[in-house]
Amino acid sequence: MRNLNEDTITQAVLARHAEAPNPRLREIMTSLVRHLHDFAREVKLTEAEWAAGIEFLTATGHITDDKRQEFILLSDTLGLSTLVTAMNHRKPPSCTEATVFGPFFVEGAPDYELGADLANGAKGDPCFVRGTVKSTDGTPIAGAVMEVWQADADGFYDVQYPGQPEHRGRGRIRSARDGSFHFRSILAEAYPIPHDGPVGRMLAALGRHPWRPAHLHFMIQAEGYETLVTHVFRDGDQYLDSDAVFGVRSSLVAQWVRHEPGATPDGGTSERPFYTLDFDFVLNPAA
Ligand code: BEZ
Ligand code: FE
Repeated sequence: MRNLNEDTITQAVLARHAEAPNPRLREIMTSLVRHLHDFAREVKLTEAEWAAGIEFLTATGHITDDKRQEFILLSDTLGLSTLVTAMNHRKPPSCTEATVFGPFFVEGAPDYELGADLANGAKGDPCFVRGTVKSTDGTPIAGAVMEVWQADADGFYDVQYPGQPEHRGRGRIRSARDGSFHFRSILAEAYPIPHDGPVGRMLAALGRHPWRPAHLHFMIQAEGYETLVTHVFRDGDQYLDSDAVFGVRSSLVAQWVRHEPGATPDGGTSERPFYTLDFDFVLNPAA
């Protein structure tokens, strides 16, 4: 195969992949090469632009390590994560909707009793969260494992602080026999995604802001049910309609109710204003 030109190169590459032993890999690579070549043709990609693209991907790789995943951030900000989540979690409308996982989940967060304070010293106004985990027919789900994680009042997750070993603003609880859960934490606040790297430069070049509306992350697992990865978003947040990672769904927006200092739902008292959030989750029975 010689003398390939702009009209024949695509077919030549596809022919080279025709004998790939894994049919799914062949399908994916065929489509990828076709779209990649069509993209270059459509925008009439110059050599300087091609080099800028290579430099961008190189920088994305260089800043990525076990604590920072710039490629996921790229996928998130280009809407690819939301597309893949949506395609892979089609479910009945009565189920709680899924949204992006994000890069700040940590394996091995501590187990807490119901009612515990997951903030573990993270800065923020006190917040009491309660609700139930149910099936689509309303049956309570007992013992659902609920991973919770959130940013602090300054908009940072614990893992973003250098050398911070503790698990702050994250933990694992289990729903009670009646499917109910409750815990204490801190008020969720809006925060910018990490924007000091290539993805941040891309957003700036595109005239986009890096902010996410205030939210609380959940991953809920129960035997016999599809795992739910989602967030609850805070109603009234100014970024609900311009989330940097396209994760907001109306059904996931809830009220964080502000209370004046006084008696708290856990039977204590707060000398400062505090918040309550009520949210019920509905899991999809596994196929
Ligand atoms: C997050 O909500 O933790 C998140 C999601 C996507 C990108 C960055 C952060
Ligand atoms: Fe988040």
